[in-house]
Amino acid sequence: MSPRYAHITGWGMAVPEKRLTNKDLEKMVETSDDWIVSRTGIRERRIASADQSTATLAVDAALRALAVANLHPGDLDLIIVSTSSPEYIFPATACLVQDQIGAKKAGAFDLLAACTGFIYALQLAAQMIKADSINNALVIGAETLSRVVDWNDRNTCILFGDGAGAFVLQASEEPGGVLTAVLRSDGSGGDLLALPGGGSRHPASMQTIHDGLHYIHMNGREVFRFATRVMSEATLETVEAARLTMNDVQLIIPHQANIRIIEAAARGLDFPMERVMVNLDRYGNTSTASIPIATCEAIEQGRLKPGDRAVFVAFGAGLTWGAALAQWSGPLPSRKRVRPARYRWLARMRSLLARLRRMIEGLIWGRGKTI
Ligand code: COA
Repeated sequence: MSPRYAHITGWGMAVPEKRLTNKDLEKMVETSDDWIVSRTGIRERRIASADQSTATLAVDAALRALAVANLHPGDLDLIIVSTSSPEYIFPATACLVQDQIGAKKAGAFDLLAACTGFIYALQLAAQMIKADSINNALVIGAETLSRVVDWNDRNTCILFGDGAGAFVLQASEEPGGVLTAVLRSDGSGGDLLALPGGGSRHPASMQTIHDGLHYIHMNGREVFRFATRVMSEATLETVEAARLTMNDVQLIIPHQANIRIIEAAARGLDFPMERVMVNLDRYGNTSTASIPIATCEAIEQGRLKPGDRAVFVAFGAGLTWGAALAQWSGPLPSRKRVRPARYRWLARMRSLLARLRRMIEGLIWGRGKTI
């Protein structure tokens, strides 16, 4: 059998319209635009409106990515949603996406590796394609961290924003696509960045709410130290795994947490900042969504072209970190024109019919039992 490659053939992003600037934050907590810009590089972030959620942003990003790939949702074999702010504890946000885009033959699940989640999801989907288990996958990073941030805590509320980004991955015999990846973790640092409430250790109660356990808790200084150490290490490891050097890499697309962390990583690699994608000034830290969002903007700005090699690198809660190296390709050639946005309506109809069928079957089954 000839080798199979997992190409990134579609990409899409979705961010809420509402902007929250540093000036707005000055009215909410004791902080200043100067402090936030000099310590993080962030100037504003997007905040989901009441009718937006992790799933709605994920669906918008997914349909855009499918449009670029020119792929029908019905042809998807797998949907992975990486998120730390899922719609519910269960069902998985990925299943909501599957239903809302009408991906009728796709398996769907959520993955939690915090801000590193998109790298984990990318590698998982790529490996399934390379192993010939599937042909087409949708990988989404989506967050509404504004819903779990304590807006009275200046240590955290200045950092995070909402958004989603998606990649379509497709099998091809042409060399390229996701080449290598490294995935790492160190659970001994789990307490440095956590949302402790609402799980099995601290089930939701009046007490957990009183204690603020349903909010993000962070030791910023320790996370900073950890991040500056692992970003350059992981980047080098994934590039060396492909038997390449940093000279073979055209662009680094890092997790957008803090400009000082990104600059330290670039310094550690002796890599010019002009070849590092940065857009955290406009979106803040959108966690696992930050890499696909930054990728969409890099393409829009002409900074990532077919044939280029890019490294995606991230760190986050867990602790987790990782990097992936990809050779950029673009959409696979296709004759038919697919307009995935239209499938949203069809998906809604299909979903309604499935619910109706279950209701009728339930009635018939119920009557059968009483006879
Ligand atoms: N506005 C003004 N002052 C603030 C502030 C804010 N929003 N947040 C903290 N401060 C204060 C602190 O209270 C501290 O005051 P003190 O010296 O009187 O105690 C001072 O500023 C310095 O705090 P410190 O924590 O040392 O600042 P820092 O330079 O490390 O920057 C972070 C803080 C959070 C920006 C930085 O540590 C960071 O980015 N860490 C990584 C966090 C991260 O990326 N998390 C997500 C991981 S995916």
